[in-house]
Amino acid sequence: MRTTALSAVRAILAVTAQPGMISFAGGLPAPELFDAEGLRAAYDSAFAHSARRALQYSTTEGAPELRAAVAARLDGRGLATAADDVLITTGSQQGLSLLTTALIEPGDAVLVENPTYLAALQGFALAGARVVPVPCDGEGMLPDALAELVARERPKLLYTIPTFQNPTGRTLPAARRAEVAAVAARLGLWLLEDDPYGDLRYEGHDLPWLAAHPGAEDRTALLGSFSKVMAPGLRLGWLRAPAALLRGAALAKQAADLHTSTVDQLAAAEYLRTADLDAHVAKVRGAYRIRRDALLAGLPSALPPGSTWNRPEGGMFVWARLPEGHDATALLRAAAARGVAFVPGAPFFAESPDPRTLRLSFTTHTAPEIEEGLHRLAGPCRELTGR
Ligand SMILES: Cc1ncc(COP(=O)(O)O)c(C=O)c1O
Repeated sequence: MRTTALSAVRAILAVTAQPGMISFAGGLPAPELFDAEGLRAAYDSAFAHSARRALQYSTTEGAPELRAAVAARLDGRGLATAADDVLITTGSQQGLSLLTTALIEPGDAVLVENPTYLAALQGFALAGARVVPVPCDGEGMLPDALAELVARERPKLLYTIPTFQNPTGRTLPAARRAEVAAVAARLGLWLLEDDPYGDLRYEGHDLPWLAAHPGAEDRTALLGSFSKVMAPGLRLGWLRAPAALLRGAALAKQAADLHTSTVDQLAAAEYLRTADLDAHVAKVRGAYRIRRDALLAGLPSALPPGSTWNRPEGGMFVWARLPEGHDATALLRAAAARGVAFVPGAPFFAESPDPRTLRLSFTTHTAPEIEEGLHRLAGPCRELTGR
């Protein structure tokens, strides 16, 4: 289960829960930015107006008003969607798990970006899939390499996070999206498009979902989440997929948990009806942009000379690479002792892990805290390079 490397990292990261630690490790939204008052009002209203329904069992596909609200948001961004095209899930993590159950049989090949989201790798491995990495560069997947792999491996599906990827923060450019969709249409495979971060854009323009491309419409499952824009504790996500696949996912969901919490769905629907989620997200984006910039501004004097990193246009993560001969796990051990943490990149790779890589999340600390965290990181970096 590929957990050996992860457990080693987990043991170190356990230390990062200590008070005073500045952690660039977790992929968490900033808790001080949650709209707790707005959500509380939405729950109050759900109880005041529909307590009996809110506390009762409900349908597997989800509360009609929440399905409709999700569909309207997608529609509003140019992806024609009806409420019936949407299944409400218990976080987008469950969407991934349902699609895995619905589509993958042991031995099936599954293509992934390299590196990619760790919990997806684990889910595919649990299902007995043969996980095959697609070669990537700084902008994500290489479409020609993808086409070659599809022809050779005959995969069941491609799992991709095209926008502000976890762990790299990369965004697949528009032209490559069209090429990926064309490969899927020409050679025939399912696309699992995971998009929990797309709303968190700090600069540049929104790009079309793979699901919106001609030829990909009937073979793309789009996964969305309220975790990063509302609150992850709600455990609310959604899945937009062609009818046959949605039916399969609903069957799998029935076996998994019957349905997602009714009260949480009604409160979220009420929030979407009465509060302004877009205004809230704009506020969150403003704060995260400042934090991203603070991290980017401080990295040159923190990481060893010769390190490289990217400049994500959104999301939560900066992906960095230490110079030749360095190891991010060794650096984490030294850094944690100084009160600062990050995640080594190696466990995110499906194959050929790069021990020099690391993921830095910039969302949960203010700019001055980020500066202090980088100041703490500079010490162990200097020691490791003998500067
Ligand atoms: C790429 C990706 N997919 C899915 C998830 C799961 O999100 P949730 O289940 O909270 O919607 C995460 C969480 O960090 C993620 O990074």
